[in-house]
Amino acid sequence: MTTTLDREDVLARTRQHVQEVLGEESTGHDWWHIERVCTTALAIARGEGADPFGVGLAALLHDIADWKFHDGDASVGPQRARAWLEGLGVEGGIVDEVCETIACVSFKGAGVETPVPTLAGRIVQDADRLDALGAIGIARTFAYGGHKGQPLHDPRMEPQQHATFAEYQQKRTTSINHFHEKLLLLKDRMNTETGRALAAGRHAFMEAFLEQFADECAGRK
Ligand code: NI
Repeated sequence: MTTTLDREDVLARTRQHVQEVLGEESTGHDWWHIERVCTTALAIARGEGADPFGVGLAALLHDIADWKFHDGDASVGPQRARAWLEGLGVEGGIVDEVCETIACVSFKGAGVETPVPTLAGRIVQDADRLDALGAIGIARTFAYGGHKGQPLHDPRMEPQQHATFAEYQQKRTTSINHFHEKLLLLKDRMNTETGRALAAGRHAFMEAFLEQFADECAGRK
């Protein structure tokens, strides 16, 4: 049986472990992404009445499959999480739930929408998506676009409605178009009421940003 003190200890050790392993990771899933997702996931867990222990562990470990890429092998993340949590003596039912959550949330292979069977999973998925929205989403979009050598904005390039994930990956786009192609669609894909409420505020902030951007381009402001 895991006591309250043990749980805090497990969370603290896991936090430190993830921080050490991610280290200088720079593919967009750096430690501070994990930290934000964990904070947001715990806020959603409070709103939804979910157990913060399982949610916290799953949030901390949710991008572990991305650590070394492993040729797209989606089982690596859950395996690593299981080995880590079992080593700490976390009870089996919680380990199973955390690993199931990571399997659903972390691996985004082929862009297929994976149904998430656990409440913890739905919460962590919401928190992960929320980190792509709002002021953070805007910052990440331009950082990523710069990394890929994309233009900020090119009025000759229209936003595309991609029919397939392959098409989405191949088409050259701009950072501004990325809002229309992906980010503005995310608020309708939230799993929880608390996640939806947070997404609505971040969505409105992005819309205000895009409006201001268009007004500045047109010399209106
Ligand atoms: Ni993530």
